[in-house]
Amino acid sequence: MSLLNKIQAKKEEKSKLDNANGTITTAKIDLLSSYRKTDNNADKIKKEKDPKTILQQDLKKLLHKKIMDQVKDNDVKKIIPQIDGMAVEIMKENEKFRGVINRKIVVDELINDLTGYGPINPLLLDPTITEVMINGPEQVYVEKAGKIIKTEVQFRDDEHIMSIIEKIVAPIGRRIDESSPMVDARLPDGSRVNAIIPPLALKGPTLTIRKFSKDPFKMEDLIKFGTLTEDMAVFMDACVKAKLNVFVSGGTGSGKTTTLNVLSSCIPSDERIITIEDAAELQLWQEHVVSLESRPSNLEGKGEISIRDLVKNALRMRPERIIIGEVRSGEALDMLQAMNTGHDGSLATGHSNSPRDMISRLETMVLMVGIDLPVKAIREQISGAIDLIIHQSRMKDGTRRITHITEVQGLEGDVIVLQDIFVFEQYGINEEGKIIGELKPTGIRPKFYERLETSGIYIPPTVFIEDEYS
Ligand SMILES: Nc1ncnc2c1ncn2[C@@H]1O[C@H](COP(=O)(O)OP(=O)(O)O)[C@@H](O)[C@H]1O
Ligand SMILES: [Mg+2]
Repeated sequence: MSLLNKIQAKKEEKSKLDNANGTITTAKIDLLSSYRKTDNNADKIKKEKDPKTILQQDLKKLLHKKIMDQVKDNDVKKIIPQIDGMAVEIMKENEKFRGVINRKIVVDELINDLTGYGPINPLLLDPTITEVMINGPEQVYVEKAGKIIKTEVQFRDDEHIMSIIEKIVAPIGRRIDESSPMVDARLPDGSRVNAIIPPLALKGPTLTIRKFSKDPFKMEDLIKFGTLTEDMAVFMDACVKAKLNVFVSGGTGSGKTTTLNVLSSCIPSDERIITIEDAAELQLWQEHVVSLESRPSNLEGKGEISIRDLVKNALRMRPERIIIGEVRSGEALDMLQAMNTGHDGSLATGHSNSPRDMISRLETMVLMVGIDLPVKAIREQISGAIDLIIHQSRMKDGTRRITHITEVQGLEGDVIVLQDIFVFEQYGINEEGKIIGELKPTGIRPKFYERLETSGIYIPPTVFIEDEYS
């Protein structure tokens, strides 16, 4: 057999194998979706028992058809004012609708579908709602005042959600289908969207929308919410102005990005700031800001620009402050190196359960780079780079609190020494489920106190003393 023939034979063999694998996956998908279908069918039968719902859907279909017949130049907006009139006409022609259904509901739903994002439109417009979560057609949750609540809102079926997802991702040149079943996108108002669909999401198309707050929280707001005290605010402001390297840690949704934004607002306006994020969320008031956003790889798996690439590039942009939205992997090494080589005053966030946990996660992240660094060397980097960890939690009652402000004091032997400066002490829970506790100083002055003074920043010593009469 010639070499060419051999290669050809290998190729054929491989493609046979691939096909076989393909059948397995398709079979799996079929299995999953048939499982889901039977599941959904059960629900549908339940729904179909309600004749009013069926009639409303019928009317909606007729109305939709009528509208589409009239929209020739594709300008749906012009037709909106006439939709109610059309519904009245249809109801006149069809006796079955009369007296049974609520026309307003049908017309509102249709307008929401045509002009906005369907049934979740009112949720997106409600300023008290901060997050909208859709887990398949029957479950729509929102976050309101820190609490997650299930709403009455429902979609007709999977396709109805899919049409909304497409409406969101199409304008920004992304797509969602079986070959790319996960997508990150953004609404025109800046809200962040993640969509993931079957077969990866078993309950049906799943959509998570973190709403963009037009008016981001300020330090005063966080004090008002009880996230931190005035003394803590004075302290944090001084630390940022004195160019300490500050790391905000905490769980998902604990308010890390919000706190990072507030901390950034303490940076003097004459410094050059470079922000690096996966999806730009920070909103700085300063003028001299360069915002960079990472990019996922395309369908061929090419073209990815990671946070790490951006950190490296930012170092060549003469930054005075580097702000990293969230440190997740290898960029930790570059960030630490930058902090250790004169790029003071950097700010970042990371996911963790406590300040100590943040340290060990940073170690793991550095190891992800794949360079064989001894643990001790990594710890030296971390303890030399980071001055302060601000740890935040989302408590059971929905409030967010800064539970620790912790100084990274240095390395003793193999151990990074951490010293809490402020902590949240929980005393209990009251009848309404509210967490009762107190944010207070531990009484210990940070080691870097003198460094603050030499940079001309004064913190009244009383900040570190617990007020016994409060
Ligand atoms: N201190 C706070 N008090 C109350 N709500 C907050 C606070 N900080 C953030 N939030 C709300 O919590 C949600 C998550 O905040 P975010 O800063 O994005 O968290 P993270 O970055 O930790 O995931 C947002 O809807 C935000 O409005
Ligand atoms: Mg965040």
